[in-house]
Amino acid sequence: MNMQKFETEEASAAWKAYWQRDHFWPDADLWRANAEFFSRSLKRLAGIEASDRVLDIGCGAGHLAKVLAPQTVQVHGVDTSERFIERARAACAEYPNAQFRLFSGDDEDLIGLRTSPCRFNEKPAGDEAQAAGGGKYSLFLCVSVIQYYRDIEQVRSLIEACRAAALPGARLVIADIPLRRNAAGRAWDTAVSLAQSFKEGYAREFIGTAWRLAMDSDYSRFAQNAPVLEFTESSLQSLLNGPGYVGALVRGGVTVNANRPAMVIRFKS
Ligand SMILES: C[S@@+](CC[C@H](N)C(=O)[O-])C[C@H]1O[C@@H](n2cnc3c(N)ncnc32)[C@H](O)[C@@H]1O
Repeated sequence: MNMQKFETEEASAAWKAYWQRDHFWPDADLWRANAEFFSRSLKRLAGIEASDRVLDIGCGAGHLAKVLAPQTVQVHGVDTSERFIERARAACAEYPNAQFRLFSGDDEDLIGLRTSPCRFNEKPAGDEAQAAGGGKYSLFLCVSVIQYYRDIEQVRSLIEACRAAALPGARLVIADIPLRRNAAGRAWDTAVSLAQSFKEGYAREFIGTAWRLAMDSDYSRFAQNAPVLEFTESSLQSLLNGPGYVGALVRGGVTVNANRPAMVIRFKS
């Protein structure tokens, strides 16, 4: 497959362990701004319906769930980091329709629905909401997560897992996907992202977070030792069509990383 792979499975596992202790991203202003910006992109790319049952895979600190909970009937978030699940529950405490659960993220449970018992939070509302949706979803989101996967085959399995839990006509948006880049390409991406931040009104957050990231962040140090997956457009194209779904690649302008593409997949039934 035409892409960089982790040298060993351990790098992917190391990232999972990293997210248990990350202190940087939950409080990064840019990531809050990203949730707002991405939700606007989402309206254009896949729509947000009041009747939507959303599953946010790798939900992090719940920024996106907090934006979507007032707009949809249900938001479920799953993440491999206990710390982030706690943060997400606290962030969305005022929204009983937003619920979160820790999951393994392993091959046999890529979207967190095989974990038994199938409960979100531990409030009665969680079980009611789960029963109402029948454990099926109309909108799956996976933002800035697949770069921490083992390889592209795991992404294919993620799409399959979503298909198995999809309500008819459900959409899946996988966004903020890093492309393979050389140093000049990275510099160009940063310039385009900065320009977008001015245009879209979150330049202060962009510059502030970039500064903190450069000056003092475990994340930057960790990323030097454990490279994330980087994809090519052709490898992403190869994922777009499969039995029971069709997809499109959106080249940019979806998240605060302006040149990172997104995949928008529609399940037929
Ligand atoms: C950069 S954060 C993005 C969080 C969130 N989606 C957002 O946009 O704010 C990456 C998230 O992916 C989670 N993660 C890491 N490896 C994962 C895996 N294999 N499966 C699911 N989530 C994973 C991390 O715990 C972390 O919350």
